[in-house]
Amino acid sequence: AHALKIGIAGLGTVGASLARILNGRHNKLADICGRPIEIVAVSARDPDKDRGVDLSGATFYADPVALAREADIDVFVELIGGEGDPALSAVREALSRGCHAVTANKALLARHGVELAGIAEEKGVLLNFEAAVAGGIPVIKAMRESLTGNSITRVFGILNGTCNYILTEMERCGLSFEDCLKEAQRLGYAEADPTFDVEGNDTAHKLALLTSLAFGTRIAPDDIYLEGISNITIEDIRAAADLGFRIKLLGVAQRTDSGIEQRVHPTMVPKDSVIAQVDGVTNAVAIDADVLGELMMSGPGAGGDATASAVMGDIADIAKARPGHQHGPVLGRPAVHLETYERAR
Ligand code: NDP
Ligand code: HSE
Repeated sequence: AHALKIGIAGLGTVGASLARILNGRHNKLADICGRPIEIVAVSARDPDKDRGVDLSGATFYADPVALAREADIDVFVELIGGEGDPALSAVREALSRGCHAVTANKALLARHGVELAGIAEEKGVLLNFEAAVAGGIPVIKAMRESLTGNSITRVFGILNGTCNYILTEMERCGLSFEDCLKEAQRLGYAEADPTFDVEGNDTAHKLALLTSLAFGTRIAPDDIYLEGISNITIEDIRAAADLGFRIKLLGVAQRTDSGIEQRVHPTMVPKDSVIAQVDGVTNAVAIDADVLGELMMSGPGAGGDATASAVMGDIADIAKARPGHQHGPVLGRPAVHLETYERAR
């Protein structure tokens, strides 16, 4: 069978990990997928930076949009980040010319997911985004495939590895918020602009995607009540601990009588609850589904390899897919009324 030719735009924490893993598992993946996966093109800003992986066989593009437009590829893998250009134009360009796309970019999908999913549907190609929510945890697959036919009443969880790492380390080591954030950045967990992590926007982006898949709503990150963790002090964490609680940044979406309520805020959770035990960069997603019951998944929520694992799975799905195969439902198809959450004061 002919090789699946991929172009990777973005060779940072996730992109470099992905390239390293695909190279190292080339033969294994070819066996599993029935055809080899070849990296034929890559893009980053700096052409000379050592990425710790041999990419000499791939054509380098400084402009990811040019890669998407010109390279001879079957799959465009977007690992640049950011809700606008160049990621947006590049993914749009790739889908429009009939390439499949894989992205880890929740900010992009929260803003433009409906448009991009529409182009993919029109062109009969796949837009896969497992890594965009909760890193390596296969929650998108669970939502789109395994839970088909269930009615979901609630989705909630710890969706940002950086924040959970900071809160855990502040409590464990008594370090300041700033020191813990610096360490999360060094470990490759944080967004290029870490305000998105600590102010809760990243959690809101992920929650908006989960809400859309769970309830068939439009994707509406701006309708989410939002409060981050930048004001949480060690004293707050200690006071909560004295009362038998731990502080976690939760994203919650649930069905109510008046619509779907969505909110992101630091929450005091009882110390002996399952969610309170989720430490460090680990994420957790809980889903209440009527046929299944309560599902809880936890695992690495950020970091190069964990995220690359989900991207690799998305690429392998495309390598194995029959032409025209679609994973339903399509992202962001409006069906249910969304309601802005008003905090009870
Ligand atoms: P990085 O900042 O480490 O890497 C971004 C890459 O994109 C770099 O290679 C950079 O080039 C390239 N790039 C940035 N801007 C441009 C531009 N204008 N033109 C061309 N290339 C550009 O990001 P991450 O790897 O951490 O994240 C990538 C995506 O994955 C983001 O959407 C992020 O939200 C998402 N994600 C990240 C996770 C993580 O744990 N890090 C987890 C889950 C999702 P250069 O290297 O030359 O500067
Ligand atoms: N910055 C994000 C986090 C990356 O810390 O969770 C994973 O989406």
